[in-house]
Amino acid sequence: MVLNGRPLTVLVVVSLWLLLICGLSYGVQSDIDCLKGIKAELEDPYGYLNTSWNFNNNTEGFICKFTGIECWHPDENKVLNIRLSDMGLNGQFPGAIKNCTSLTGLDLSNNKLFGIIPQNISHIIGYVTSLDLSSNNFSGEIPADLSNCSYLNVLKLDHNRFTGQIPQQLSLLARLKQFSVANNLLTGPVPYFGPNSSITADSYANNTGLCGFPLDPCQSA
Ligand SMILES: *[C@@H]1O[C@H](CO)[C@@H](O)[C@H](O)[C@H]1NC(C)=O
Ligand SMILES: *[C@@H]1O[C@H](CO)[C@@H](O)[C@H](O)[C@H]1NC(C)=O
Ligand SMILES: *[C@@H]1O[C@H](CO)[C@@H](O)[C@H](O)[C@H]1NC(C)=O
Ligand SMILES: *[C@@H]1O[C@H](CO)[C@@H](O)[C@H](O)[C@H]1NC(C)=O
Ligand SMILES: *[C@@H]1O[C@H](CO)[C@@H](O)[C@H](O)[C@H]1NC(C)=O
Ligand SMILES: *[C@@H]1O[C@H](CO)[C@@H](O)[C@H](O)[C@H]1NC(C)=O
Ligand SMILES: *[C@@H]1O[C@H](CO)[C@@H](O)[C@H](O)[C@H]1NC(C)=O
Ligand SMILES: *[C@@H]1O[C@H](CO)[C@@H](O)[C@H](O)[C@H]1NC(C)=O
Repeated sequence: MVLNGRPLTVLVVVSLWLLLICGLSYGVQSDIDCLKGIKAELEDPYGYLNTSWNFNNNTEGFICKFTGIECWHPDENKVLNIRLSDMGLNGQFPGAIKNCTSLTGLDLSNNKLFGIIPQNISHIIGYVTSLDLSSNNFSGEIPADLSNCSYLNVLKLDHNRFTGQIPQQLSLLARLKQFSVANNLLTGPVPYFGPNSSITADSYANNTGLCGFPLDPCQSA
């Protein structure tokens, strides 16, 4: 063997280093692409995004200064939370959010968003602990796949136009503390979160025909 310990060590170190650099720049580029994609997907009539979300900047951490963006570290382009509440934003659920791979919170409440929540939502925002889509114009059924977003503590879907039944699988969300689907057009049995759940009848107020604990029992057919 010609290779003694030293060149091998150098090779290993260089390989690791390259892997790290590629890994990091991939993660970072992905988060920039995420925000570029969101900006492209949403109509922003009051210009909140197109005044603040300026991508002509290569400074590490530049996206962390954008309106509504919070990063894991202020000098690293890795998005922790997106909070775009009350900006008059118009459009459908922005699929580009998938490229924010380290996202833990998403707040799009009080806008004019419409259309369905994607059926594969857990592939888009699988690690969020908080999802607030309240007070928009979302419609269709609440996807059962939300139950695969297993880190959810807060899930606010109130004040939209959701129809159909609430998926029973949502009761699998073991960490759920705050939950509301009030003020929609939902019917049928509500998920059973267990006898000691903090989720009360207020979570279900003003729908078309929900039943089951903590509401009135469902009529058996
Ligand atoms: C924001 O975008 C609109 C078109 O979408 C454009 O008319 C306006 O000039 C832009 N504002 C700024 C500050 O870039
Ligand atoms: C780029 O972003 C950094 C960090 O937010 C900021 O200090 C700098 O002014 C920005 N440069 C330009 C040209 O916008
Ligand atoms: C994520 O970003 C890549 C470019 O880096 C892009 O090709 C892809 O369409 C983006 N994904 C989504 C869901 O927007
Ligand atoms: C929802 O859509 C209806 C009609 O499509 C519209 O009248 C209403 O203003 C919208 N609500 C919101 C919050 O955008
Ligand atoms: C989610 O589903 C939509 C439409 O079915 C598809 O275009 C998109 O690529 C899917 N996204 C992921 C992350 O699987
Ligand atoms: C949860 O995810 C798994 C794997 O992707 C999938 O097979 C299952 O149908 C999902 N659950 C729901 C309720 O959609
Ligand atoms: C509910 O609370 C009661 C009294 O605190 C406790 O005895 C019971 O084990 C709890 N049940 C569940 C399912 O956590
Ligand atoms: C139900 O609707 C009534 C009348 O619009 C409203 O006053 C009340 O606050 C709503 N309840 C909830 C929990 O949103």
